[in-house]
Amino acid sequence: MSIEVDASDEFVQLAQNIGTESRGHHNRNYVLPLTEAMARLCGGEPGTHVLVRVPRPEAVPVVIRTWSEAQLLRSLRGVLPNVPQCLASTATATVLSYVEGEPLSAVCPDGKRVKQSWISAMVEILAQTAALGRKELPALPDDWPRYGSDSRGYLAALTQLADRQIRRPSWSVYGGLFSQLGVPEDVLAQMAQKVPVMAPRPCGLLHGDLHRDNIVLTTDSRVIAVDWELATYGDPLYDLATHLVRMRYPEKQHKDVIDSWAEAMESTAPAAVKGMEKDLPYYLAFERAQSVFPDVIRAARSLRQGSQRKRLWDGLLYKAEAAVWHALQAGAQPLGLRDLPSRAKVRDVLHRWQTAGSEGLGQTGERYPQPHPSRGSLSRSLKAFRLVFSDAGGETRGVGAIGMHPAPDSSQEHDNRHLVTERTG
Ligand SMILES: Nc1ncnc2c1ncn2[C@@H]1O[C@H](COP(=O)(O)OP(=O)(O)O)[C@@H](O)[C@H]1O
Ligand SMILES: [Mg+2]
Repeated sequence: MSIEVDASDEFVQLAQNIGTESRGHHNRNYVLPLTEAMARLCGGEPGTHVLVRVPRPEAVPVVIRTWSEAQLLRSLRGVLPNVPQCLASTATATVLSYVEGEPLSAVCPDGKRVKQSWISAMVEILAQTAALGRKELPALPDDWPRYGSDSRGYLAALTQLADRQIRRPSWSVYGGLFSQLGVPEDVLAQMAQKVPVMAPRPCGLLHGDLHRDNIVLTTDSRVIAVDWELATYGDPLYDLATHLVRMRYPEKQHKDVIDSWAEAMESTAPAAVKGMEKDLPYYLAFERAQSVFPDVIRAARSLRQGSQRKRLWDGLLYKAEAAVWHALQAGAQPLGLRDLPSRAKVRDVLHRWQTAGSEGLGQTGERYPQPHPSRGSLSRSLKAFRLVFSDAGGETRGVGAIGMHPAPDSSQEHDNRHLVTERTG
């Protein structure tokens, strides 16, 4: 083992002991100043803040990954301006330059109108990103599908990847839950078969997860994209779709964002706008369809923490129920789901799934909760829940209401006031 590796490992250990910690879905993040030894090793200034990212081993695999973030950021150095730098990586962690500032989500939370100057900066990032081709990027994984500028082939491959990398690994644990919720095992495989013909657009680098937590506004007013771990290579129109859905723009802003994106692309990758009006809805449909899997799994897992206190348990259950119900509503049309469960059925399924113990044992091993919540406490919790989320703002389902499948029965219970599903990234 080299001295360098030891110094990096020591620094990672130090980060875990004294760094300021924050947890994402995928990583534990620690911010701390560079020590003299680490600064010597990675060529930085001692005292500069850096970010140590340690993957969470317990995270469920609910995203499609292409490269490691460290590998990608190394290849983007000097190629794409304003991306974090990878300073070191060890077997267990990555050390990145820390972008000082505030995340956009802190200044302008989900659902809130986004200033045009920020929109312009974000679409500019997407446009510069999309202009990078394979020459500038790390090699694609061996099993990565080759589709050139065949957009239909790309979306079909993406749907198959979602089935392979997201749905399949979780099915042994969560398959029963999905079935009870009316999501069949072959739903993504079926969707992949139905991808329509689309205009050809050349592939480029995609950020893959450009939402409000992943945009940092620096004190000197720059707008920087961080968290490149879901970056991938593909049709730039897909990056616009994930951005639109995950940013939770008020619906009224969608057109401005789409127009701004098209304008920005004209100067970096003009062929990326070909056929966008017709094809964007297909990517939006895919994004909502695949999100059903992480949203349901994360909601189910959120119940594992449980509570000895019934009121807290009711709160957990309602949050999970809302997340699942909204995910199903958003994904129903593109996934071609019929007979969606009512909200009460979702609650019942989640409750039974948790108490049945398929993955339903609390960390301490007790089973909970018992007994089934009473109606009175249900409606109290529901009221409290609605109050909490009444400021959540609009959701993004409006754009691209065109799915790849016919709409589900419109007589179903429908409440799209508050979209509280979690993000994929
Ligand atoms: N280089 C960076 N500088 C500053 N903040 C960062 C950087 N990289 C990531 N972050 C912050 O860490 C947050 C959590 O990232 P991550 O652990 O990947 O969580 P998630 O599961 O939400 O993707 C990001 O949303 C972003 O705000
Ligand atoms: Mg991330």
